[in-house]
Amino acid sequence: MGNILFATGNKGKAKEVKQIFKNSGFDILSLSDINFKEEIIEDGETFEDNAFIKAKAIYDKFKVPVIADDSGLEVDQLGGRPGIHSARYAGENCTYDDNNRKLLDELKFFDEPHPARFVCCAIYYDGQNKIVENGELKGNIISDKKGDKGFGYDPVFVPENYDKTFAELELEEKNKISHRAAAFKKLMESLVKKIS
Ligand code: IMP
Repeated sequence: MGNILFATGNKGKAKEVKQIFKNSGFDILSLSDINFKEEIIEDGETFEDNAFIKAKAIYDKFKVPVIADDSGLEVDQLGGRPGIHSARYAGENCTYDDNNRKLLDELKFFDEPHPARFVCCAIYYDGQNKIVENGELKGNIISDKKGDKGFGYDPVFVPENYDKTFAELELEEKNKISHRAAAFKKLMESLVKKIS
């Protein structure tokens, strides 16, 4: 049913989403596949705003159907922070380690457990149709990092009903239950219904 451009240069995300769309009839190309490297400024106030900013920027540039997402971590005891600031929580040019350290320092003032959720907003946009789907995964933040797989807040996040962090799980296992998988599975199903 045609090509869709995925507005991400993140190869891990691209692989995960290509896998989800594998038998859908749509072929997913990422920005790395087409060698597009310009940065898109995400200055929205919600995950949905930011996902749409990416989708629209890429649609306006290439005039082909686009999917995009924005995701992050919300911690209850921190009033939903880091939220849309997840990537740069410890400041401009910070590392994943800096972000985890800042998060764990802030949580020292609160009793365990530290309930949290990863959230993802996934959007399809083709200039006329816009489809928005959300996914989330609940869990808890632990007080010491564990595991070396994955990225971002994976070493401090234990999904609900698991006893390992995301960074201790195999990527395939993580991708089955992740917030991104949930959002993109719904998006793929809505798209197949709408377009076919
Ligand atoms: P974005 O959707 O690429 O903008 O992700 C924003 C930030 O949220 C990332 O830089 C990570 O810090 C965090 N994040 C999103 N998804 C995950 C995940 O699956 N594991 C760990 N951190 C994540």
